[in-house]
Amino acid sequence: MILREATRHDLLSIAKVQVHSNRSTYVGIMPEDYLDNLSYESKANEWDEKLFKGTVTQFMYVVEAGDGNIVAFASASLIKTNDLFEREVNSIYILKEFQRKGIGRLLIKSIITKFIEINVKSMIIWTLEDNPSHIFYKHLGGNIVDKRIIDRGGKSLQQIAYAWEDITCIFGHSNR
Ligand SMILES: CC(C)(COP(=O)(O)OP(=O)(O)OC[C@H]1O[C@@H](n2cnc3c(N)ncnc32)[C@H](O)[C@@H]1OP(=O)(O)O)[C@@H](O)C(=O)NCCC(=O)NCCS
Repeated sequence: MILREATRHDLLSIAKVQVHSNRSTYVGIMPEDYLDNLSYESKANEWDEKLFKGTVTQFMYVVEAGDGNIVAFASASLIKTNDLFEREVNSIYILKEFQRKGIGRLLIKSIITKFIEINVKSMIIWTLEDNPSHIFYKHLGGNIVDKRIIDRGGKSLQQIAYAWEDITCIFGHSNR
C-alpha cells in the first residue's frame, strides 16, 4: 500500500472509487436512480475543480494497492467551512473489499498530520446518520456536535457532524 497526495492523473481513478464506494455504502439509503446515475466523468470534473483548477479549496490523499490501482481517498478543506471548527474532512471513501484494514485510520492520520503542520487544531466531519460507518468517527473519539438535512435524488436524509476540539489527541500527536 502506498499513501500519497492526489495528482491530476488520478482524477478518473478517484471518481471510480467514489462511485463504487457510494453505491455499496448508500444502497437502501439513497434512491436507486440517484446511485445508478452517478458518473465517473462528472465526479472527476468536480474533483478537478476542488483540487486543481481555479480556487483550490481542498487537498486529497489517495491510497494505492500493491497493483498500483487507487482503492481509497480522503479530502479535507484548505479553508474554514464552519463557524466553530477550523477545518473539515470533506470526504473519505474506500472500496468495500479494502475496508476495515486500517486504511481509514491511515488517511485520517495523514490529514491530521497536515492540519497540525499548518497549526490547525479543530476539525469537523459530516456523515449520514444511517451510514454505519459513522461508528468509525466515534471510534476516533469524535463527538456529535450538529445535525442537518440534505437532499439526495429527492430524498431527505439526516446528516450528523462529528467534531474534535483538539485533533492532537486523536493519535497522540504532540508537536503543538
Ligand atoms: C468509514 C471508512 C472510511 C472507515 O475506514 P476503514 O479503513 O474501513 O476503517 P479502519 O479499518 O481504519 O477502522 C478503524 C475502526 O473504526 C471502526 N469502524 C470502521 N468502519 C466501521 C463500520 N462500518 N462499522 C462499525 N465500526 C467501524 C472499527 O472500530 C474499526 O476498528 P476494527 O476494524 O479494529 O474494529 C470506510 O469503511 C469507508 O470508506 N466506508 C464506506 C464509505 C463511507 O461510509 N465513507 C464515509 C462517508 S462520511
